[in-house]
Amino acid sequence: MSTVCGIFGCLSDTAPQAIFEGLKRLEYRGYDSVGIAVIRGKKVTVEKNKGRIAEFITSIDTAQIESDVGIGHTRWATHGAPCKENAHPFTDCTGTVAVVHNGVLENFMQLREELLKKGHKFSSNTDSEVIPHMIEEGLASGMSLKDSVVGAANSIKGSMGCVVISSREPDRIICLRRESPLVIGISKKGTFCASDIPALLPFTRKVMVMQDDTIAILKRGKIEIEDLCGHAIKPVFTVINWSQSVAEKGGYPHFMIKEIFEQPLAIKETLKIPLNFIDRAAGLMEGKVYLTGSGTSYHACMSASYQMAKRLGIDARPIHSSEFTDAVSELEGATVVAVSQSGETADTLSAIKYAKSKGAKILGITNTLGSSITIISNAYICTQSGPEIGVAATKTFLTQLTALDMLMLRIGLRRGKLSEEEYRTGRRQLNGLPKTVEEILGSSERIKSLAMKYFTRRDAFFLARGANVATAMEGALKLKEISYIHAEGYPAGESKHGPISLVEPGFLCIFVAPTDSARGRVIGNVMEMKARGAKIFSIITRGDSEMGQVSDDYFEIPQVADFLYPIISTVPLQLFAYNVAILKGLDPDKPRNLAKSVTVL
Ligand code: M6R
Repeated sequence: MSTVCGIFGCLSDTAPQAIFEGLKRLEYRGYDSVGIAVIRGKKVTVEKNKGRIAEFITSIDTAQIESDVGIGHTRWATHGAPCKENAHPFTDCTGTVAVVHNGVLENFMQLREELLKKGHKFSSNTDSEVIPHMIEEGLASGMSLKDSVVGAANSIKGSMGCVVISSREPDRIICLRRESPLVIGISKKGTFCASDIPALLPFTRKVMVMQDDTIAILKRGKIEIEDLCGHAIKPVFTVINWSQSVAEKGGYPHFMIKEIFEQPLAIKETLKIPLNFIDRAAGLMEGKVYLTGSGTSYHACMSASYQMAKRLGIDARPIHSSEFTDAVSELEGATVVAVSQSGETADTLSAIKYAKSKGAKILGITNTLGSSITIISNAYICTQSGPEIGVAATKTFLTQLTALDMLMLRIGLRRGKLSEEEYRTGRRQLNGLPKTVEEILGSSERIKSLAMKYFTRRDAFFLARGANVATAMEGALKLKEISYIHAEGYPAGESKHGPISLVEPGFLCIFVAPTDSARGRVIGNVMEMKARGAKIFSIITRGDSEMGQVSDDYFEIPQVADFLYPIISTVPLQLFAYNVAILKGLDPDKPRNLAKSVTVL
């Protein structure tokens, strides 16, 4: 039915080559099938198949798709098996219209029924396939391609990042955005559209993020934007200054390790976010406070909730975005902090739309300017990680925590919980983070040797206390998602209430145990595990000989202020997961069953 995928389209001299280049940069969004449609003469030619782009390119006769206008798609299946029939693009009955689509069509069953009654033929199990047939209806009634797309959009309920070509109007590509991202760009090389900025960077740095319920008409050397009522909108382009290598691997074997090593820079850039942005966000924080996010971003919420309670006395409840609507009802006057690197996670968007409808104010924390979260939120902070391509979140997590710490310091000052002096000290400590993370990265070989020792394990516990519980959970998530080792992260004090029954000689327990206020109690938990034969690998503060002695292996991190341990302790855990995945012969950038941005509920 629906898809979480990558879209690329262009009018360019060598359109198929550009499309493949763009799709390769989007493959992280989805990678179980791929397809391309180009205009050749009075027909649209489509090639698509199950599998990844590299094998797809070698399997087709590229001479048969030479063209100067086309669209392409990589898919990550949700409903409808990953197979050739369900791969995009989809065409209409006449074979003159082709469509690629990201998003979910809520009323597609009803639309499909109506189209079937009119004699349309379908070849897939997807929701997206109704779109070309609806456009076909519009064209048959004498409407232009653009008006047919608008007509379809007006009948469809749901989210759409949708790109359309037709051999009836071969000089253009029509893009439609509704709740699913699309960016457009232009240069001497041609006119382009994609579902994400990195795909456009080899062709242009002049890009525009489309707004919801707008249409873009792309032609050679020209872009027109309209709302769905046909009112012209002036295109506003931004020049992207990311170096192209930032969106590529830059000599590293994988994006994940490159992104781990980019963390000092990502934090440094995030620390430069102007104070007025942070203050605007801090000013929003009144009434009850909730923090919401999914996966890694939820861990950032959890970490911040501990710190808000402990340092500022603010009771801020973290809630998984997918649970939000079931967990909270009284939201009038509350503030919901929504954390999402992509800003497009459907669970998170659904949580904040619900919260907004109940009278809450929304503060978005995202890495993606122009994403849906920035549009829906009352205020937002945009972390400065640059694009994150590896499916496993790394640098975006560290910058989320950094931004949340910056925010907390400002709130502390505003509410009189921190003195000017304490605020300045906190900022100084934060400013030291890039150097500290760099220092940890300098010892990455040590983590490699620990990964060698433990990579054959089938299970692992990640344990900690206080705000580091979120770090432990993040460490477990990293290990399980890219190395497929069963890993659980939970508060160290909970072992005795159940999980310890799994521990037998050789069981791996990874403790996040820096010398913060909880460290004394963690030793007791280490001893409980040791007594049952567990192997203990601990992240400890440099020079903590006691923790070193009770551990079978340890990795030392520099001494920092307590509130920074959750950030810096994450780095060795990321490196551990990465090295374990490599030793197991797995591709850490494209773990099975996962997609970078989950835009379905
Ligand atoms: O884009 P978001 O931060 O909203 O994404 C949320 C999760 O899907 C994401 O953090 C996921 O858990 C990562 N793959 C974890 O590495």
